[in-house]
Amino acid sequence: MIQQTNQSVMGVVPAVQWIGILDPDLRVFDIVMETKFGTTYNAYFIDAEKKTIIDTSKEPFKDDFLAKVRKVCHPSELEYVVMNHTEPDHAGALKHLLAEAPKVTVVATGQALAYLSEMIGIPFKSLKVKDGDVLDLGNKRLRFVGAPNLHWPDTMFTYLVEDRVLFTCDCFGAHFSHPAMMDDLVGNYDEAFDYYFHTILQPYSRFMLKAVEKIRPLDIALICPGHGPVLRTCWQERVQRSALMAQEYLSSAESSVRRVLVAYVSAYGYTREMAELVASGINSVPGTSAELMDIEHASLGELEAALTRTSALVVGSPTINQNTLLPVYKLFAACNPIRDRSKKAMIFGSYGWSGEATDIIEANLRVLKWEVTSGPVRDKFRPVGDKGAPFVAAGKAFATGL
Ligand SMILES: Cc1cc2nc3c(=O)[nH]c(=O)nc-3n(C[C@H](O)[C@H](O)[C@H](O)COP(=O)(O)O)c2cc1C
Ligand SMILES: [Fe+2]
Ligand SMILES: [Fe+2]
Repeated sequence: MIQQTNQSVMGVVPAVQWIGILDPDLRVFDIVMETKFGTTYNAYFIDAEKKTIIDTSKEPFKDDFLAKVRKVCHPSELEYVVMNHTEPDHAGALKHLLAEAPKVTVVATGQALAYLSEMIGIPFKSLKVKDGDVLDLGNKRLRFVGAPNLHWPDTMFTYLVEDRVLFTCDCFGAHFSHPAMMDDLVGNYDEAFDYYFHTILQPYSRFMLKAVEKIRPLDIALICPGHGPVLRTCWQERVQRSALMAQEYLSSAESSVRRVLVAYVSAYGYTREMAELVASGINSVPGTSAELMDIEHASLGELEAALTRTSALVVGSPTINQNTLLPVYKLFAACNPIRDRSKKAMIFGSYGWSGEATDIIEANLRVLKWEVTSGPVRDKFRPVGDKGAPFVAAGKAFATGL
């Protein structure tokens, strides 16, 4: 077992050292993502004539990070810090590094520099780069690869030409902490790799495919991502797997069968009966298929997965104390307007006297950029007798309009 701690640095190739941070105990990332294997915040030191660091660390780990920087160089000798992405899990420690490294020029895309100036609050030297630009480090060169929207608008990759090392930050990474840090030494982490793609990168699948095409012509020896193991033996497999998952996602979104998620909650079963009626209306339209889901106990991950595979959404809720219910708010939290924008939606529900839930759901879905195609369908208490027909008709009309 390799004894790797947050005091150790690790050689990647002779000129590149990993100076990242292990966070094995992290269980939730960005509030929404479960990280049962913990994570790492990878940063790298390039020992060129002009000493350079690629990415930093999350702010709470700044002391360990700065101690590692001091192990590999004197911070006053540092010439450049390249930021491939500025989310605070990578950029949080930057301002503390800048305080110790007065010579440093921060190298990043225009968006990244704009975001950094909002985060750091004090002026810093900067160099804006774009796709194809080359930075001379004296005896080595960095070439920048435009790879935007993975998963922020600011992202890029950095290629160390002489050593054939590609730094990709969130791309081809995983929330997976293992002290050995090298892909061939950490055991199988496919589950963490796929989960990372599905949770962070999948909505940006189109951009992932473009980025994969961009790096194809490069002569790559290894890929150094921003989270999880360094890809020194299997970078091709990881890139191929990412491209495959992106393609699968895009083709399921364009699949000929239109899936309609009918997500509902129901305290006494009346809204459930309405959900079944709406679903039967949807299923009566050729080429559409309803997926009924009682979301009372659904996890955020299950809601996200269901929203990801659906082409349209139907939400049902009773009115309880002039409101809808917590699971429906959880469903809102699982919506991603970048992924779901302009998908169609409809709302239904059971109520007793005032019936606010359906309007509340409609308002929320609209601000989350769903296209709500008709007014809510609702009725008092149970859809008995003739009261069922409008729900079947609404499901049919909705599915016909998809
Ligand atoms: C605790 C509680 C609070 C309720 N508050 C309202 C309300 O504010 N407005 C309303 O129209 N109906 C209200 N209702 C009535 C329900 O919306 C109605 O019983 C509905 O049919 C329940 O549907 P379900 O069986 O799908 O849960 C309330 C019911 C309960 C149990
Ligand atoms: Fe990120
Ligand atoms: Fe990240």
